[in-house]
Amino acid sequence: MLTKQHVKSVILASMTTMPLTLWTAGAGALEPIEALGKNIFFDEKLSIPANKQACASCHDPARGWILPDSRINATTVVAPGAKPHALGNIKPPANAYASFSPPFRRGNFGPFVVGWEGGNFWDGRAEGCGAKSGAKCPTTTGGAASETIRLSDLPSGLQAAYRKYLGPIADQALNPFPNDVEQNIREKNVCQRVKTAKYKNLYRQAFGGNIDCSPNPKNNPAYRGSFKLLAVALAAWQSSSDVNSFSSKRDKALAADPDHKFPLVGFTDQENQGHDLFYGITSALNPSGKRANCNVCHNGVPQGQPPDRTGEAPHQLYADNRFHNIGVPFNREIPEVGKGTKVGLKAHVSSVPAGNFRTPTVRNVAKGLHGGFVKAFAHNGWFKSLESLVHFYNTRDVLQRCESLGIVHATEKEALKNNCWPASEFANPAAFVIGNLRLTAAEEAALVAYLKTLTDTHTPTRP
Ligand code: HEC
Ligand code: HEC
Repeated sequence: MLTKQHVKSVILASMTTMPLTLWTAGAGALEPIEALGKNIFFDEKLSIPANKQACASCHDPARGWILPDSRINATTVVAPGAKPHALGNIKPPANAYASFSPPFRRGNFGPFVVGWEGGNFWDGRAEGCGAKSGAKCPTTTGGAASETIRLSDLPSGLQAAYRKYLGPIADQALNPFPNDVEQNIREKNVCQRVKTAKYKNLYRQAFGGNIDCSPNPKNNPAYRGSFKLLAVALAAWQSSSDVNSFSSKRDKALAADPDHKFPLVGFTDQENQGHDLFYGITSALNPSGKRANCNVCHNGVPQGQPPDRTGEAPHQLYADNRFHNIGVPFNREIPEVGKGTKVGLKAHVSSVPAGNFRTPTVRNVAKGLHGGFVKAFAHNGWFKSLESLVHFYNTRDVLQRCESLGIVHATEKEALKNNCWPASEFANPAAFVIGNLRLTAAEEAALVAYLKTLTDTHTPTRP
């Protein structure tokens, strides 16, 4: 077993190649700004009606940072808000490792990928370019974008120290409180409740003064500035090693391995085979070099680190932070969300085709699956198990269409029962790399076994 200290030293060793110091402290030793963010994350009092909902209510570390409600995951998918009857319209993604997504930007990624990457949210609309000098932020893309926190929003003496927390993860944190299908609380009330919270001293330690919730000056009330600093504190904790612990079986076995290369001594043959399929590596366990192509999208490292084509980097993120349409079927079980209405990136960048969603990390997808707990996968949660999702990647274009059997808007259960897949909700899903992988049942199982090695063993709890 590796200790946290060891994980930290591995992290420190690789920092020389990184421009950003994203890991600041071990889980036990949070800086005041991180500890403040952690307290806010778990504080149900920051919602109206009070005592109902915290960030953690929809992002439970013990379940891999998603909605900890098996029944909802198995059916309607979307999280209820603090207010009675308020419902979201998309699945909460994991927030861990989201701090590694770069500021939203245009790029050229080849013929089959829409030319944008980064940001937070399924559509990247928390752009996080506020720390870049001279950048137009948010970018004008013809769609919805989040408000941005800029360097000038930080107290002048702390700009150098806290600049590293600005980015998509900080912009994202401005959104859940005022959202009426989430915590449903005004900025001013958040400020006032933190002012009297048990952890109020952490604010002073982090920002060098008491929190100011005054409604003055009228054109830029003090509580607005304080609210932004609370979002920065949430960003700080979500950027820390308490949240991004890189403490999975994969991370530990890789660090402990004599040559730090696959096949790992600490893995079973099945897990090693799953890795080789995920990355399309020819090996004794994958002699014909079969490719599941997962690494085409679920592969990436923190900004500034060398590319990792073999999945052997200590900080492999398992996400490219780009936008793809994998052909997810319409989910008729989400109340009041009509077919074709949740379009992904297009809601943010009006010029792109509908149906592209930001690749989620596959770290922690299996976390919390014990005891029959159901998790929902993909942006609309249509998939209810890793097994069925992998079977979909393998056979999407091979099995008959459920529509041809007369089943319209089939649920996952109906599809599995009838050995069919529904058509993609949106046209032109990614081809070639998805849909007909020619994997055997044993190879599908090996991929699932590999996904299960990506579960962090460190689980932050309520402070
Ligand atoms: C009612 C449930 C709910 C609550 C409460 C909630 N979230 Fe979320 N969260 C979501 C949903 C749903 C999304 C996806 C929304 C979208 O993409 O349009 C999301 C997205 C995110 C993301 C983006 C992850 C990524 O990779 O894009 C982060 C980070 C996050 N939430 C952090 C927080 C924080 C911090 C709080 C508390 C201030 C919070 N959430 C409160 C449901 C919730
Ligand atoms: C073309 C890019 C691409 C390829 C190839 C790909 N994925 Fe994905 N994956 C995505 C995107 C994008 C999503 C989210 C799609 C959505 O919500 O519409 C996703 C979702 C997932 C999820 C659900 C995660 C969650 O939190 O809901 C898992 C698990 C997953 N993929 C595993 C795999 C595996 C295993 C493979 C290889 C067999 C693979 N993916 C191949 C892009 C890809």
